Amino acid sequence: MEQIPIQESFWATESSISSDYISRVLKVAQLDAFRDKSEVWQIIATSQKLRYLTHGFFRYYGKFPPPIARKLMELYGKPGGVVLDPMVGSGTSLVEALVAGYKSIGCDVNPLSVLMSKVKVTPVNLSRLNDNFKMVKEQYTKKRRNPSQKMIDGIPIIRNINHWFFQETCEDLAVLKHLIMTNIDDSITRDFLSVTFAGIIRRSSRASNGMGRIFFDGGKEPPDVFALFEKQYNSMFKTMQQCNDYLRARGEEFPVSVHEVDARKIDFIDDNEIELIVTHPPYFNLYKYSRVFSFELHWLGFDYKGIRDKEIREAFKVGKPEKVDDYVEDMADVLKEYYRILKPNSYLGLMIGDTLIRDERICTTSKTIVRAEELGFRVKKLYLRIPKFTEATYATAQRRTKKDLGVALNDFVVVLKK
Ligand SMILES: C[S@@+](CC[C@H](N)C(=O)[O-])C[C@H]1O[C@@H](n2cnc3c(N)ncnc32)[C@H](O)[C@@H]1O
Repeated sequence: MEQIPIQESFWATESSISSDYISRVLKVAQLDAFRDKSEVWQIIATSQKLRYLTHGFFRYYGKFPPPIARKLMELYGKPGGVVLDPMVGSGTSLVEALVAGYKSIGCDVNPLSVLMSKVKVTPVNLSRLNDNFKMVKEQYTKKRRNPSQKMIDGIPIIRNINHWFFQETCEDLAVLKHLIMTNIDDSITRDFLSVTFAGIIRRSSRASNGMGRIFFDGGKEPPDVFALFEKQYNSMFKTMQQCNDYLRARGEEFPVSVHEVDARKIDFIDDNEIELIVTHPPYFNLYKYSRVFSFELHWLGFDYKGIRDKEIREAFKVGKPEKVDDYVEDMADVLKEYYRILKPNSYLGLMIGDTLIRDERICTTSKTIVRAEELGFRVKKLYLRIPKFTEATYATAQRRTKKDLGVALNDFVVVLKK
């Protein structure tokens, strides 16, 4: 396969970030106490370049940059050991664990995350996959104009569904969903095609593409649902082919398991069992993942409300700075569980960020570190992850001031030692 670019090529070799800048950032973030443990991490690779292997399978908002997950494994893991990501999201850390040669475990409360993470790291029998795709295509062409009641019953109950989806799109999606969910016996193939299906939901809807939050876009026309599905399938198939080749060439196998579990209660892991945790929790006041992916969750038949109640309280866009205390409280419960399962002298690499609400900085990182230290963790390192200044997503817009672009923009990667 096309080589995975070497890790060094992702990183800035010389930092243009001055020591004065670092001091300023640490001061506003109330993290000056860690000045001597601080270092800058700056990724220069484009998003396109970072879409190797299965990283680009699904448009996920608020991903870990893959080089960060890998760097943490290289610096703080034990080769051949186990890496755990208890808030695995789209599975970035699991893909990187395969590349770096670690066994890995992923957990998430969101079943969509569990599904897509599994699919990203599971080799697929490509000829079986192709046969099933052809069957779906053939059946879809037959049934589309004359769907059965059973198929129509698969249209999920989404509030204001007629506002968010054209009626004909609902019917097309329902036919496609039925064919994938009920006509495919092999679970690996079914999961792969379910993620393919999930990958076209936002584009099939009347909500804007490419944004985490769901905004209505009145300019969208009813899409050709199967054309979207086929395009998505072809791209994922090609990637999977390359990925299978890559894994075959590696020879060695690195087991991966993914679980639908609350990070505050990872009962299947014993005390002092894990060598490294690498994770990236939701940020305060930024994305509520059940909401961001609510259409996909509904269309795949997952219990949207049940998921929402289990997520940590990140206060999605409520604009109330005081809610940070709920967030930190939940993070303290999460950290307590991490402390329990980590082996003594092992590390937790946590990517986390502060937030701005009406230009007021919420020092989430420092508040979280205080709680971690109370639990017994010690800060080993504090990396300032400086994103590219061209990143203009909603997320970064939330996290910078107009007059002082850049200062509030970075994330922190905190390495805590048990
Ligand atoms: C920022 S995302 C992780 C992104 C991931 N690093 C990636 O690269 O795709 C945070 C994840 O935390 C999950 N989450 C929220 N509350 C959780 C909880 N109590 N237990 C486990 N996962 C949780 C969300 O469902 C979401 O998938």
